[in-house]
Amino acid sequence: MPHSEFAIRTYRDEDHESVVQLWRQVFPDAPARNDPVQDIRRMMRAQPDFFLVAHFGPRVVGTTLAGFDGHRGWLHLVAVAPDHRGRGVGAALVREAEARLAKIGCPKLNLQVRSSSPEATGFYERLGYAVEERISMGKVLPPGSSNS
Ligand SMILES: CC(C)(COP(=O)(O)OP(=O)(O)OC[C@H]1O[C@@H](n2cnc3c(N)ncnc32)[C@H](O)[C@@H]1OP(=O)(O)O)[C@@H](O)C(=O)NCCC(=O)NCCS
Repeated sequence: MPHSEFAIRTYRDEDHESVVQLWRQVFPDAPARNDPVQDIRRMMRAQPDFFLVAHFGPRVVGTTLAGFDGHRGWLHLVAVAPDHRGRGVGAALVREAEARLAKIGCPKLNLQVRSSSPEATGFYERLGYAVEERISMGKVLPPGSSNS
């Protein structure tokens, strides 16, 4: 499928069901805190202009959540439906996120690749990303009053 047959745009409410299905299919082992419905709600409150979908007609076939915290940009949930992989959809999503972040002054993008899917590093390396010597740390926060 040539690139012209899919398009990248900002998430819209009508995409909700297909995005939920896509993330459940692509990230079946996601922890409960990454429930797709809650993730969408949080992203729409935080930085909705950086929630991107790739669509082929009415069907959403890819996503990414990007964001800028004032110091670094981040990429999350880069996901392409298995039957649409290998056609440039993932690359187009990342490139669009990069363009939007660069436009608001973001100097560098970071992302994390789970050790359970090391093959994703090959994809990012093709797009110019490099594995960096860092220790990744995280902490789960207690639910806030407006978390649901
Ligand atoms: C990783 C993923 C997003 C790639 O999406 P995609 O639409 O198939 O990727 P593209 O077709 O845009 O590929 C872009 C380039 O990366 C390469 N590439 C894609 N997947 C690759 C992989 N696993 N290893 C090495 N290179 C890869 C492609 O060959 C292409 O190279 P080219 O420019 O020389 O043609 C998709 O496989 C996916 O959703 N995987 C499951 C979720 C995941 O692991 N997400 C990333 C971590 S959160």
